[in-house]
Amino acid sequence: MTIETLPAARKKVYLPPGLPVNLLLLTNGQFRPRDPIRLFEYMARKYGDISTYRVGHLRIVFLNNPEYIREVLVNQAPNFTKERVQRRSKMLLGDGMITSEGNYHKAQRRAVQPAFYRERIGAYADTIVRHACNLRDAVVPGSTIDMAQTMMRLSLSVAADALFRTRMTAEEVAAMNQSVNDIMKVYHFLVALPAAEKLLHFPIPGLMQFKRARRKLDRQIFEMIAHRRSQGEPGELLTMMIEGQPDASDEQIRDQVTTILLAGFETTANALSWTWYLLAENPEVEARLHAELDAVLGGRLPTADDYPNLKYTEMILAEAMRLYPPAWAMGRQAIEPFDLGPYHLPAKTTVLMSQWVMHRNPEFFADPLRFDPTRFEPEAKRNRPKFAYFPFGGGPRQCIGEAFAWMEAVLILATLAQRWRVTLVPGQTIVPEQLITLRPKGGIRMKMEHR
Ligand code: HEM
Repeated sequence: MTIETLPAARKKVYLPPGLPVNLLLLTNGQFRPRDPIRLFEYMARKYGDISTYRVGHLRIVFLNNPEYIREVLVNQAPNFTKERVQRRSKMLLGDGMITSEGNYHKAQRRAVQPAFYRERIGAYADTIVRHACNLRDAVVPGSTIDMAQTMMRLSLSVAADALFRTRMTAEEVAAMNQSVNDIMKVYHFLVALPAAEKLLHFPIPGLMQFKRARRKLDRQIFEMIAHRRSQGEPGELLTMMIEGQPDASDEQIRDQVTTILLAGFETTANALSWTWYLLAENPEVEARLHAELDAVLGGRLPTADDYPNLKYTEMILAEAMRLYPPAWAMGRQAIEPFDLGPYHLPAKTTVLMSQWVMHRNPEFFADPLRFDPTRFEPEAKRNRPKFAYFPFGGGPRQCIGEAFAWMEAVLILATLAQRWRVTLVPGQTIVPEQLITLRPKGGIRMKMEHR
């Protein structure tokens, strides 16, 4: 009998090639815990499509092949839960849609799904454009701004207003953005600590800062919930959450709102920030963007109807998310033993995949470091395997906000780039910081000029 025909229960573990040493025992500093992308790149370069390593008692399998990624995210999805780091984000997100599993996850997703239907999201366009337009008019020609923080504040006010019908003042937006920044600073270390959930009960300085910021964020979210509970209308996201889950407590709804707000605003803001950075570095792409905006909009503000015609604008965003994917890695843990290609892997294996690494694979993206939006022409897309590019994940846990994010980012870019040209303030080195999302470390200082 060959290994393929053995019943799963009788198969022997058969592992892919990989690092012979447990990562915890490697002391030469080659792989730093804060730079997992470097490790992933090494694994992909040295071992190819699939490889393995150990960290303490954890067995990790790293995937670098679109078909293996599809197997885990789609074909064998019922055999996988989120992996440890994602599960631990419960410290931040509670039991919202990203961290929950099973029936509770299904119930949450079902309750809010209609708010994200493609036909539905057009209704959010006016709100998106209004916020972008306020920013467009507020910027002073010749001024310098931190584009990363500016995009964070913009997409936070858009998400709160469009999805939760909450108009936040500039101060409220800045306060919430600051809480999220404070949380992210500490959160990053927190998830790596053993028993971090227990440590949170002790007065350790960094952790106190996390708890303080978390409490501030909670306060703002509870206010939003109370406001919409009294004034909500049928068909609104929050009303859907409450009516779709009549037994849910205020805390459960808080977790669900926090998850959607945080998942929705940081990612989109980072996609936009990296896009501005790449536009500043590639003036020929910027010129073609301006030409499309002039042809489609002729100087007026974009609407939902213009969105399908802003094709090159969308291709620019797609290419920016290829090079700088806001979600730069994802993971799953196997419930039962499973097969991947010729390998038979044990239950509890952690499977990791990285958008950063996959999106820069020269087999699917020739000359991968070049910024070239035409890679997203329909013909080129058809010629690539689907999971060579997966900024929004895939399968039953695929990003619920994908359609909203595309429209939001396209309309914001179109509204702002209609008026503004951006240049990088000289003397900066722009590098990514691997937090929950991929942020430009220390921000991006940009000079704003009228076109
Ligand atoms: C450029 C923007 C965005 C990117 C790159 C992005 C990326 C992702 C990815 C990769 C996942 C899957 C994670 C996994 O399977 O482990 C995900 C899930 C999710 N995203 Fe997004 N996202 C974006 C925008 C949004 C927006 C705008 C919203 C909401 C308004 C949102 C809400 C969510 C939620 C709730 C989930 C969990 C879905 C589930 O597990 O059922 N995201 N996102």
